Amino acid sequence: MKFREGKSVELTGKVKEWWDKNPFTYLMDNKQITPDWAFFRNIDRKIIKWMPWAQKGYPLLSNVIDYGALKGKKVLDIAVGTGWSTEQFVRSGAEVTAVDLTPAAVELTKKRLALYNLSATVQVADAQQLPFPDNTFDFVLAFGCLMHMPDTKKAIDEIWRVLKPGGRASAMMYYKHSLHWWYYIFFGKGIVRGKLFSMSVQELSNRYTDGAYEEGNQLTKFYSKKEIRKLFSQFPTICIRVFDVATPINHLPHRFFPLGMLIPPPIKRWLTTKVGQTLWIDVQK
Ligand SMILES: C[S@@+](CC[C@H](N)C(=O)[O-])C[C@H]1O[C@@H](n2cnc3c(N)ncnc32)[C@H](O)[C@@H]1O
Repeated sequence: MKFREGKSVELTGKVKEWWDKNPFTYLMDNKQITPDWAFFRNIDRKIIKWMPWAQKGYPLLSNVIDYGALKGKKVLDIAVGTGWSTEQFVRSGAEVTAVDLTPAAVELTKKRLALYNLSATVQVADAQQLPFPDNTFDFVLAFGCLMHMPDTKKAIDEIWRVLKPGGRASAMMYYKHSLHWWYYIFFGKGIVRGKLFSMSVQELSNRYTDGAYEEGNQLTKFYSKKEIRKLFSQFPTICIRVFDVATPINHLPHRFFPLGMLIPPPIKRWLTTKVGQTLWIDVQK
C-alpha cells in the first residue's frame, strides 16, 4: 500500500468535514457528546487503558514526553481532537498553542480547558499550512494525525519550519509492518472477508481504522520505518519506537479462538515492539 503523498485541497476538505462530524473521542458511541467532566475523564481513562506503554496514569503520555523540560516553553499541539494532550501541556506549565482542522475539535478543547480553568490558545488551522512564523516553538506534538492528512510530508516540513533550532517534536503514526495492518486488516478483512473485491487497499485502510464504527474515516495511512525516516529526513536526529498492547497477539488466530494467550508474556512484550500498531517518533531540529 502506498498513498501518493501530495497537496489535495479537495481531500483535505473531505477529511475536515468527516472529523468535524465525528470528533475523535476514543468512545465507541460518538453520537452523544456531552462535554462535561465525565465525558473528558472517560476519554482519559480509555487512553490509559489502551496505551499503557505511554503512561501509568496522569500526566498522559508521561512515558514518552518529558514534561519537566517543557515548563515555561512554547508548545504547539497539532490536531488536538478533544484536547486531552493540550490539558497535560498546560498543566505542566508550558505556554500552549493548540490547533485542529475542525471547529468541533477546537470547541471541545476549549470546553475541556474551561472546565479546569486552564488556558491555552486554541484555534482552527491546517497542519499542512501552519499560520505561525518560522522558529516559534520549543516542542511540537502531532499525535495520531499526520497519517490522516493528504500531504503528510508538507505537514512535517511545517513542523520543521515552526520549530526553533534545537527544538524537539514527537509524533504518533501507524506502523505498516504490524499485525494490525497485515493480519487483521489486509488478510482478515481484505482477503478472508473478501473486501478487496470491492475496495482498494487504501479504502480498506480508511474503513477499518479510526472511525470504524462510523463506516471509516476519509484517509488513514500506514508507514514503514523507512518511509518515516524519509519523511523526517531534514531532522538530524530521529528515534522511532514501536508500541502496542498484547491484545492483537492474544487474539491470534481469532478473538473467539485466542491461542495467542498461550504465548509467554516476555515473548509477547517483545513482539509488541516488533509488530505493534503504533510508531512513536521523536525528532530534534
Ligand atoms: C484520530 S484524531 C486524533 C485527535 C487527537 N490527537 C487524539 O488523539 O484524540 C485525528 C485528528 O486530526 C485532525 N486533523 C486531520 N487533518 C488535519 C490537518 N490537516 N490539520 C490539523 N488537524 C487535522 C482531525 O480533525 C482530528 O481531530
